[in-house]
Amino acid sequence: MSDASKPRIWSGASPEEVARDLQPLVDFQEEGLPIEDVEALVEERLLPHLCRYDVPSFHSFFNAFPEEGAAYGARVALEWNQGVTNWQVSPGGAVLEELCCAALCRLFGLEAGAGCTPMYCGTYANQQAIYMALHRKAEMEGFSLPDEGLQGFGDPANLAIVVSTEMHFSVKHAVRMLGLGERSIVTVGVDENRRMDVGQLRDTLARLAGDGAESRNVFCVSATAGTTSTGSVDPLGEIAAACEEHAVWLHADGAYGFGYALVPEWQPLYSGAELADSITWDPHKQFGAPIPSSIIFARRGEDLFRMAIFSSYFNREDSAEPNPGLKSIPSTRPLSALPLATSIRHLGLSGVIERLRKPLVVIRKVYNYLEGHPDIEVLHRPDTGILCFRVVPSGLAKERVGELQQHIYETLLRGGKRSLSISELDGETCLRIVALSPSVTVEAVRETLLQVRRIAESFH
Ligand SMILES: Cc1ncc(COP(=O)(O)O)c(C=O)c1O
Repeated sequence: MSDASKPRIWSGASPEEVARDLQPLVDFQEEGLPIEDVEALVEERLLPHLCRYDVPSFHSFFNAFPEEGAAYGARVALEWNQGVTNWQVSPGGAVLEELCCAALCRLFGLEAGAGCTPMYCGTYANQQAIYMALHRKAEMEGFSLPDEGLQGFGDPANLAIVVSTEMHFSVKHAVRMLGLGERSIVTVGVDENRRMDVGQLRDTLARLAGDGAESRNVFCVSATAGTTSTGSVDPLGEIAAACEEHAVWLHADGAYGFGYALVPEWQPLYSGAELADSITWDPHKQFGAPIPSSIIFARRGEDLFRMAIFSSYFNREDSAEPNPGLKSIPSTRPLSALPLATSIRHLGLSGVIERLRKPLVVIRKVYNYLEGHPDIEVLHRPDTGILCFRVVPSGLAKERVGELQQHIYETLLRGGKRSLSISELDGETCLRIVALSPSVTVEAVRETLLQVRRIAESFH
């Protein structure tokens, strides 16, 4: 089937054209409109410019359309109790959340005593994890971080968090927001599969622990269980062992990738995750849970209460009821446990696993398919559902390779029928296929690659 007869992902319009279409939606007037007219306005003006994530040729980002069971749970939450700030505003919501969290810890094979709590997004989960790591470090140094703040550390400027070059930028946000500054980030390199290089990590931790000029007060290693650019899973077991030796908190950022730990053939990649002190996971990515749906796990559930602030009107210290809001910052918290629970109950675990496995298999097959194509340089062996590559037609000057990738990306995007994304690896532009939704197929990706080649052929 040619692309002409395929559904559009989006209009392909320019920002100016989109703005022109949308203006009537924000033409606020004294008189209200009947709801049918509002609906007509949205359908006519907005929908063509929204993206459809259920189209097999959408393979660019971590966006998913809601799974049927999740969509049902979201509707109930919307109509009943959107928020589960505390027991008093949603008794059923508060208890469901507690039960769902306990069930998730068991599902992911975490040790007894582990706990978790919903978060708005992976960015905030990472920030909370890094705060908890700092809180524990302060405790080890004999003072209270909530009371004394960073000044409690003899030399706060010496604090360090170790990450790989492939960390998600939310770690930078976290250290900025915590007042540590980006100078606190120490970076180690990655291996040929773009996983954290454990040899380098060990050398770095030993060097920083010494009393030489490079000595730093390391309080956290943040590994990534599914990097954003290439989906690579850092070797968590080996990293956990190194952290244990140095008594350093291990955070595993699995915002994108941790869900795949449920797929039996992929599970070994995640071995050691249970040893991480904290783990971030975003069910609003491949699980098809509506945004916001993020989870932070803690190996010792009580670590989550490092966030607790009691108040006089709710979240009272003497309260006997569950107050899940004590385990994270926001007071207003969405009932995101409900869509997650209804989705997992609807699909069943076998359905969940099948759904997760599909895009992983697609990317593996695409990787094998690309092996015999000399005009395509595949940049890593895929751990999960992401594959980065560069189109390098013979005869193209080396200095124009980046320009070609940009041209391919922009041309495809404007077409409105297919999408892939653009990224940089080691400072060089590359193209990136993300298979996330269960509707992405090998055929759809191969068709995209055909188009990519066609665009490359007409590049001068
Ligand atoms: C590895 C990783 N960490 C953190 C995040 C941030 O998650 P969120 O977009 O939910 O804030 C992402 C988002 O793509 C990610 O890929």
